[in-house]
Amino acid sequence: MIPWQELGKAHIPGENGELILRKRDTEYSIRFAATELMNSRVHGSEDALAELTCKRLQNTSALNILVGGLGMGYTLAAALEHSSSDTHVTVSELVPAVISWNREHLGHLAGFPLNDPRVSVQQGDVVKTIMSNKSEWDAILLDVDNGPDGLTRESNDRLYGMSGLKNVFYALRPGGILAVWSYGPDEGFTRRLKKCRFQTETVTVRSRKPGKGRRHTIWLATKPR
Ligand SMILES: C[S@@+](CC[C@H](N)C(=O)[O-])C[C@H]1O[C@@H](n2cnc3c(N)ncnc32)[C@H](O)[C@@H]1O
Repeated sequence: MIPWQELGKAHIPGENGELILRKRDTEYSIRFAATELMNSRVHGSEDALAELTCKRLQNTSALNILVGGLGMGYTLAAALEHSSSDTHVTVSELVPAVISWNREHLGHLAGFPLNDPRVSVQQGDVVKTIMSNKSEWDAILLDVDNGPDGLTRESNDRLYGMSGLKNVFYALRPGGILAVWSYGPDEGFTRRLKKCRFQTETVTVRSRKPGKGRRHTIWLATKPR
């Protein structure tokens, strides 16, 4: 068996713990403590997060999309693939090293999405970007953790609680979509979305294409027009 080679370690701003990037042959992995956050071989549901959202926005031109966070760039690449040439995508990533890793080691995995002229990178907390923009986004795609339960960052709970969801509601344009990736279902989160006036749909997607691997959950929550 080919051994793993460590390519980098990065502190997570504001938290205890670090992210570790490893490589084994053509496979890449980002871990947080004992948990694998991302593996380059498994990204069906990360792709689906963007694809499902963009399909629902097909009649909207010049989309303005926010992706949080970057990870290995699969969700970002899928947002670019499934939207038109006049779309703009802002990707918000908390950990500076993750942006460097994408430039130095990982870019080829998803077709170098950071080089696309439609992309802007914001290093920082996606919560701040959401809070500083009212009626700005056609879509906000969130895959910053294991889901509404958090894992790498307790403060990501600010995104998924009532006040966080209200901020997202105000940051979206009417008809805009909040899409959230999760390791599994969460009834409480669905209830909170509905309480915040989102029209909410929950979709189960597979981690490996086609129709293989673990079942992950994606919420597609639309701000009414
Ligand atoms: C599971 S990965 C995302 C995977 C990504 N969807 C892909 O396709 O590769 C989660 C990413 O979110 C970042 N992150 C965590 N909390 C964040 C926050 N509050 N704001 C922005 N990025 C965050 C992490 O550093 C990590 O790069």
